[in-house]
Amino acid sequence: MKKLVDLITDEIQQSFEMAGYDASYGIVGLSNRPDLCEYQCNGALAAAKTYKKAPFLIADDVAAKLAGSALLEKVEVVKPGFINIKINGRFLSDYLNQIQNDKDLSIEKVKEPKTIIIDYGGPNVAKPLHVGHLRSAIIGESLKRIGRYMGNKVIGDVHLGDWGLQMGLIIAELRERQPDLVYFDPEYTDEYPNEAPFTINELEQIYPAASAKSKDDDQFKEKAMEATHQLQQGNKGYMALWNHILTVSVTDLKRNYKKLDVEFDLWKKESDAQPYIPDMVKYLKDNGYAHLDQGALVVDVKEDTDTKEIPPCMILKSDGASLYNTTDLATIVERMKLFHPDEIVYVVDKRQELYFTQVFRCAKKTKLVDEDTKLTFQGFGTMNGKDGKPFKTREGGVMRLESLIRDIDEEMYKKIVDNRSVKADDARKTARIVGLSAIKYGDLSNVAAKDYVFDVDRFTSFEGNTGPYILYTIVRIKSILNRYEEEGKTIEKGTILPAAGESEKDLMLETSKFNGIVEQAYEERAPHKICSYIYELSNSFNHFYHETKILSEKDERQKQSWIALLDLVREILETSIDMLGFSAPDKM
Ligand code: ARG
Repeated sequence: MKKLVDLITDEIQQSFEMAGYDASYGIVGLSNRPDLCEYQCNGALAAAKTYKKAPFLIADDVAAKLAGSALLEKVEVVKPGFINIKINGRFLSDYLNQIQNDKDLSIEKVKEPKTIIIDYGGPNVAKPLHVGHLRSAIIGESLKRIGRYMGNKVIGDVHLGDWGLQMGLIIAELRERQPDLVYFDPEYTDEYPNEAPFTINELEQIYPAASAKSKDDDQFKEKAMEATHQLQQGNKGYMALWNHILTVSVTDLKRNYKKLDVEFDLWKKESDAQPYIPDMVKYLKDNGYAHLDQGALVVDVKEDTDTKEIPPCMILKSDGASLYNTTDLATIVERMKLFHPDEIVYVVDKRQELYFTQVFRCAKKTKLVDEDTKLTFQGFGTMNGKDGKPFKTREGGVMRLESLIRDIDEEMYKKIVDNRSVKADDARKTARIVGLSAIKYGDLSNVAAKDYVFDVDRFTSFEGNTGPYILYTIVRIKSILNRYEEEGKTIEKGTILPAAGESEKDLMLETSKFNGIVEQAYEERAPHKICSYIYELSNSFNHFYHETKILSEKDERQKQSWIALLDLVREILETSIDMLGFSAPDKM
């Protein structure tokens, strides 16, 4: 559906034209003085220069043409030449009825759906998920959902880190701890009985131990590097071990992502790109894109317009080993081959921005991607604690994601039990749902690229700009709708009447903005815009609710209209939180 503000713009532009001015001056925006008007047009001020005429005279001419417009209730010219607009109540309620009857809830889908791959999550096997991984998962999941609502084919890929030195570290450590494992037998074949020699808990303990050891034991580090090399060369026993590490890790990761309501379409791994490397390297060499620099194979990626130094993109190290870059480039090759995406979006810590600049430039310059395939870096900032430093446990250690979720759930559980509107049996489940809203909304309500403070007290509050507040509003609406239905009545869509009062009109105006907000959030990859919108919408609703006795209204048509409006607000709120990646309980 066309946006309401665009419908008004059309009307004003026509009037500019009818009054003898260029239509392009008739752009309308939301009012920045909501106390005076709902929309405003400042075009007369700009037109004044062209037509060498006082702006308010131009505005007067335009306003005269608007007399009798069915869209507008009030048009007022204010010096020096603003056109202040109030929309007609009937026109507004009709617009909302249309939204309510539209299967896409007014969202105007993209004309040409695109195939978009979102590379997010990015966990590394054998390392427990910690809060740093949280942001990528939350932001990526939301971008994926918004992209789909807009009608695109969006593929989420977890892009598991399974190919680096961490594998060699684990193998080397296991070798020291359990030298008799069959996997270390030089004669190892796949026919040996094959069961993982560790649990996830052991694995998560082995890795940090090995990593710490490698920092002050050079000999051990050598061994780990050698093990990595052998694994990459296809050592059978190591491959079998690596498979166990993968299986055990992936099972655990899936369990954790499920808790976050984050779902990947693809569980591809860095190692999946390895088969593409030899041909890619050959191609880069044969076409003269890559050259040797102190033994390493590199592609120059600097551009004339650069204001800072962009170092070359390294393809192979001097010992011929591949790197993170190599894997990412080969992954691009694989993605092009398998999916032909129009765009690949990387949701990664913003500290990797320079790295991705190199990779993207290299892929473009060497034509590993089509010219019209977009490569996009969506960097995010650090999640800090109240002290402004990266979020830690109370003891100062790295916070595991599981512990964070558990802490939040516990906090929510206490509040929900206190509230006593949920049966004791359901309190845990409800705490889960509300807790997830606290975490996700707390994250997404900030501009993704900025650092933010994860404030447990604030995020779990039922008041203010929080996930629980939004859910509380939805639950409140649901409860009114339920009571209405318990009176034996049915909610009839499309029965909204013109607003009877100011807070109602305000709520209706907020409701009408939904399609514009979703479009903007999609184009700017900005879920935070959806957060601020639903916060405003919830505020408007609560204001209306406190002023209006809905269920005791005697005029049945009026009551029906309010109920329809509430149902529309509920649907918009629930659709919005689905875009953000969480849902609402029935009670809380
Ligand atoms: N595993 C990486 C890390 O922990 C993130 C992966 C991001 N995606 C990518 N295609 N490089 O830093």
